[in-house]
Amino acid sequence: MACHLRAHATLKPQLCCTNNAKIHHFKLTVAINCKHKNQSDRWSLDGKTALVTGGTRGIGHAVVEELAGLGAKVYTCARNEVELNKCLVGWEDEGFGVVGSVCDVSNRVDRCKLIDNVSGAFHGSLDILVNNVGTNIRKPVAEITSEDFSTLMATNFESVFHLSQLAYPLLKASKSGSIVFTSSVSGFVSLKSMSVQGATKGAINQLTKNLACEWAKDNIRSNAVAPWYIKTSMVEQVLDNKEYMEEVLSCTPLGRLGNPTEVSSLVAFLCLPASSYITGQIICVDGGMTISGFYPRND
Ligand SMILES: NC(=O)c1ccc[n+]([C@@H]2O[C@H](COP(=O)([O-])OP(=O)(O)OC[C@H]3O[C@@H](n4cnc5c(N)ncnc54)[C@H](OP(=O)(O)O)[C@@H]3O)[C@@H](O)[C@H]2O)c1
Repeated sequence: MACHLRAHATLKPQLCCTNNAKIHHFKLTVAINCKHKNQSDRWSLDGKTALVTGGTRGIGHAVVEELAGLGAKVYTCARNEVELNKCLVGWEDEGFGVVGSVCDVSNRVDRCKLIDNVSGAFHGSLDILVNNVGTNIRKPVAEITSEDFSTLMATNFESVFHLSQLAYPLLKASKSGSIVFTSSVSGFVSLKSMSVQGATKGAINQLTKNLACEWAKDNIRSNAVAPWYIKTSMVEQVLDNKEYMEEVLSCTPLGRLGNPTEVSSLVAFLCLPASSYITGQIICVDGGMTISGFYPRND
């Protein structure tokens, strides 16, 4: 429709022309305008619906704003109701289409309720699922308790597995679904005191590939982003330690931490029609950390 409107706009000055050159020029103009329309469609999420878990802080917050800014209607969740409501009011003031509800994604009943709510809000269809929530407990293996193990497994892996399962009929109904997991570099390389957390992210990486194959028939893509240190509330405390921060920077070729918006831009790309042939990929957002072998920064 927009294409036709543009065609009319360029037709007017040409109506008085009878020669072929001008008619060809008109056709060309229409073609160019249509091409631009296609291009803007590829880089827009207008009319799309998205669920982003853990949208009140950090990477999830940036993802909510990135997707909403590209035109998507976004549903988000978190455990803290006060913080969630504050975010929802802020987004409404900014003109973003974001709704949400309280949910602890580590809880099975909460997950079922969340997807029911999402289904109600978006009439049984969902284009984008961003499985963002994750947590960390830093301990050497010998000190990990069964409770630590269960918390990490339930929050980081069981939650994303079950939410993907629950969202499957909705994603299928959209006829063009996209799942993006927030993995971590810990799913690729060994990080100190993060054996269980790393195992959950490694599991996410494999699930990303399996879903890409299994649900390709339904035109559902599945990808993951794998960040290194990003400035969020999750890592604030550990990075307050100056010595640790120096160690982190010493194995980061770009020599700095990442910002949440440097992850959300990639998440958005993986949700856009522009990435429609990309599936089963886990992409690091890590300032070069995972490709750095022996390369001391002071060289
Ligand atoms: N920051 C990094 O350096 C880094 C690096 C690699 C990977 N990651 C991954 O990136 C993702 C986001 O991390 P982040 O650093 O942005 O974390 P964050 O700043 O701690 O924010 C976490 C968000 O998720 C929500 N949340 C946490 N647990 C939840 C639960 N059980 N149920 C529902 N919502 C929950 C939080 O709200 P409530 O507390 O109110 O629930 C908050 O909105 C995680 O998967 C993490 O593993 C982060």
